[in-house]
Amino acid sequence: MSGMSLVQDIAFVRYQVTDLNLMEAFLADFGLHTAARTEQALYSRTAGPLHHAHIAELGPANATVGIGLLARSAQALDEVARRTGKPVEPNPEPGGGLRVRCTDPAGFVVDVIHGQDTFEPLAVRAPLEFNAAVGRKRLGQPVRLKPQVASITRLGHVALLVADFPATLAFYRDVLGFLPSDTYWAGSEDRTIAAFMRCGLGQQWTDHHTVALITASDGRNRFDHSAFEVVDFDDLVQSGEWLKSRGRAHSWGVGRHIQGSQLFDYWRDPFGNKVEHWTDGDLVNDSTPVGHAAVSPEELRQWAPAVTPEFFA
Ligand SMILES: [Fe+2]
Repeated sequence: MSGMSLVQDIAFVRYQVTDLNLMEAFLADFGLHTAARTEQALYSRTAGPLHHAHIAELGPANATVGIGLLARSAQALDEVARRTGKPVEPNPEPGGGLRVRCTDPAGFVVDVIHGQDTFEPLAVRAPLEFNAAVGRKRLGQPVRLKPQVASITRLGHVALLVADFPATLAFYRDVLGFLPSDTYWAGSEDRTIAAFMRCGLGQQWTDHHTVALITASDGRNRFDHSAFEVVDFDDLVQSGEWLKSRGRAHSWGVGRHIQGSQLFDYWRDPFGNKVEHWTDGDLVNDSTPVGHAAVSPEELRQWAPAVTPEFFA
């Protein structure tokens, strides 16, 4: 198993919030669907097959708690247990299956899961054919769309602000097999302060980043954002219009990122958490060159409206 990722993708993000009803109503506008709800927690799914992509636990304060990762196989889960010294145990949460629960050096609860129940995928609109100036593809077919809730197909990544960047990087790389796709330095080139990490899957194409690690300048461990994939560019924008019509708080977008190249739009849930809709991201594999760039606000986007202070709040 050495040299190969033990993880094939991210499964879910876990938050603590003070009001599950408020979160459930927001997620319905954002494009997630309730999969299970208990007294203590709300589990929400995408249109994809995974049981849930978002967990909100009821608690006394709002916080970003942790993440769930999909083990590549039962053997990979055993290897996670061996490397972390934590047991493989039955997953007590809805969806079941097996899990290894550990804590990363930033204090995030990391559940590596395998064998969880899945759902039939929900129907989503087919991606639009785009009549670019060269190479027309949509022949004899009008476009008829309206503002409507996003068709989220999956959770794509989480960005973590971490106090101890080197230790957290080492955990995701050496224990779980993530690999950097792009890194940022500040001050001097040897001072890496951020890494966009993918699941290291050899020649298999995978998202440019599944876990992004960024040094927390204030030393406070927390999510920067979680990011959900939508069907296409129109879905990104039409669902943005939907969120606006529902009075939801916009953060930043629409734009095109540099690292990962996604088209993006950022929103705030009622508890201040930043959540991203994205589409058209880069796929990379172990032959893709690893970038190392000087950090700057300019590095956040190829094009987009000016970044507001709100985005960094
Ligand atoms: Fe993102």
